[in-house]
Amino acid sequence: MIISVDGPAAAGKGTLARALAEHFGYAYLDTGSLYRGVAHAVLMSGSAPQDEAAGVRAAETLDPAKIDPVAIRTPEVSEAASVVAAMPPVRAAILAFQRRFAENPPNGEPGAILDGRDIGTVVCPDADVKLYVTASAEIRAHRRWLELKGSGSELSETQVLADVKDRDARDTDRATSPMRPADDAHLLDTSNLSIEAAFGAAVALIEQSRG
Ligand code: DC
Repeated sequence: MIISVDGPAAAGKGTLARALAEHFGYAYLDTGSLYRGVAHAVLMSGSAPQDEAAGVRAAETLDPAKIDPVAIRTPEVSEAASVVAAMPPVRAAILAFQRRFAENPPNGEPGAILDGRDIGTVVCPDADVKLYVTASAEIRAHRRWLELKGSGSELSETQVLADVKDRDARDTDRATSPMRPADDAHLLDTSNLSIEAAFGAAVALIEQSRG
């Protein structure tokens, strides 16, 4: 069983995908963390995020087990991740890892849930259930701002909204694997939906498909 959960930043897809994986006993892969891991490695090597050769080197030598979960969450890494994610050879270098994870979950789980931007369209076009989780940019920025404030950031909500819109534009407008719902994806707009309601709707869709 392969489930794709795509959508823009801060729409709630990570929380939803994690909860679904726990509920069904499936493996979970946050594919954004791979692009963040690449971006972090590029920045640590002293290169600019736009340096494609540095991005490809980082992607080809990326060890997903060694990605630092805290260091990849800074606004600088978020920004750099959307830059390296637009580079076709960077995407190609981490495609095989994602597909292997989906087809052979690491601990023999009976299914895998991958969240990202292009899981239902490119990484796992044959996924059994495809979800596309979205919410308005203002609501997503507000959630992200609360999260950042909680971890001590002093960024203003206006700045966070500008960053969210910038990243949306980069993720949507890039030529390779742009962010978009697969034709057969179920849309879940969480603007006015609690996480419990989104979870309930997703569980029903997955149970239907499991038969
Ligand atoms: O979901 P996130 O914010 O952690 O993703 C970080 C960046 O990586 C984001 O700008 C989009 C990109 N990304 C992507 O292009 N494809 C994916 N499958 C996952 C993330």
